[in-house]
Amino acid sequence: MKRKTTFYHITDSHLLSPDIWVEGGAIDRRERGDQIALKATPQILDAFIEKILADDEADAVLFTGDNVNEGDVQSHEAFRARLERLTAAGKRVFVTSATHDYCGAGDDENTFRACRYTKDGTEPIPFLRKGELFGFYYDYGPKQAIDVHRESGSYVVRLCDGVRLAMIGDNGNGRSHCGLFEDGMRWLQNALHEAREAGEYVLLAVHHPVLPPWEVFRHMADYELFGGYRELYEMMCAENVRVVFTGHTHLQSIRKYTDSAGRWFLDVSTIALANAAGKMRRVTADADSGVCTVRSVGIETLPGADAGGRSPFECLYGLNFPGILERLLPLGAHDFDAFLALADGFLPAEKLRSHKKAIRFACRRLERMKLSAAARLSATWKKLTPAQRKSAGRERLTDVVFEVLRHIYPGNAPYPPGTVEHTVFTGCAEKLDRFVRRFHIEALQKLVPPGSSFAEIVQDFLYNNRTGDDDAICFSLREADS
Ligand SMILES: [Fe+2]
Ligand SMILES: [Fe+2]
Repeated sequence: MKRKTTFYHITDSHLLSPDIWVEGGAIDRRERGDQIALKATPQILDAFIEKILADDEADAVLFTGDNVNEGDVQSHEAFRARLERLTAAGKRVFVTSATHDYCGAGDDENTFRACRYTKDGTEPIPFLRKGELFGFYYDYGPKQAIDVHRESGSYVVRLCDGVRLAMIGDNGNGRSHCGLFEDGMRWLQNALHEAREAGEYVLLAVHHPVLPPWEVFRHMADYELFGGYRELYEMMCAENVRVVFTGHTHLQSIRKYTDSAGRWFLDVSTIALANAAGKMRRVTADADSGVCTVRSVGIETLPGADAGGRSPFECLYGLNFPGILERLLPLGAHDFDAFLALADGFLPAEKLRSHKKAIRFACRRLERMKLSAAARLSATWKKLTPAQRKSAGRERLTDVVFEVLRHIYPGNAPYPPGTVEHTVFTGCAEKLDRFVRRFHIEALQKLVPPGSSFAEIVQDFLYNNRTGDDDAICFSLREADS
């Protein structure tokens, strides 16, 4: 076996078989209310698979859950057929599942329901239960494993000589605890320790993030993280595990954790494949040099989809949040009927109808508003240089807001400290902090973690304050290198 491996990591492909929907209001409303391009998921997944098949260096592909969207049997079969394509081409495939891959049976908190989308509604269809997933995907992971934790569906495989991969499943309740129970954590601890004793590196992969992609996540929604993440921090640092590949939040982010003793690891969180800006990670790990390199690969075309010469992002971004917001603003200002039609399934369109005049007025004002207005409102105008004032007088406020929104999922937002946009938006957030404190507005206070502030929270959205690049990183797996 060679001592170097190259693999791809795909997460949150949310595949929806074309056999379970027909064009109509039901599927459109479902797609608009989501954040992924549901109808195009087969074409998106196929486009990425083509890229992997064209990469002769790639040995393996990892899929870390939410592989299908609603746990229905047809989508699982469509997904497994794609795995077969990869294995037939000589790629090893390692799969774990997550909450979208099964439907609750009333014995946990998973509320997903498999359904067929008819023209006007939905009807129930057969689905997989959590306990059936291990067998259904047995050939894609557990069969090649050197160690298996049957209860959670976790397993360890050897990627090449000197590099192991632990694919962590979860035996939580499908919502408020998605992680390993005590027995699973003990199994993982032993697996990591055994690898270290054998002088082999271990990489981890799990659906739920171990570090929150944004700091505010940790406080707002603990259940969005891997259940037992604090224990995992300890374990990874103690056993010299330098990286965990995650998904679930649909955010592209690379964050580093360092403990008080200076030991560290990275959480490489990958954007949903089914996002308009979806990407997969290409990872190379060299057992001799200990160097691990991560970069990101997107798709330039979407064969089979009606892309009309546009890029996949241009074609898909307007389908759901935040792209719909960007489309709604000009419609609210100039074409109210089209505004209502687009808002259907995304905003309460009927309620909006009664506020037509106010909405049209607000949209028209917002459309014209320049960044300089926000600078004056936040009292940051005097902090700007003459050149920055000029540019703030030209730049539309909504253009900056939409640019920030466009970077929520793919990361690497473009406004670091020193830019006029950073100064103005941080100033606005500081003003909001003062306002909330002064008037004790509980609903807003609740959004801010203890010891934090809106000014601090907004930093995650304005620029990459994490490891500098959400798309790529190169680091050492060696214990001696810090
Ligand atoms: Fe997901
Ligand atoms: Fe998820």
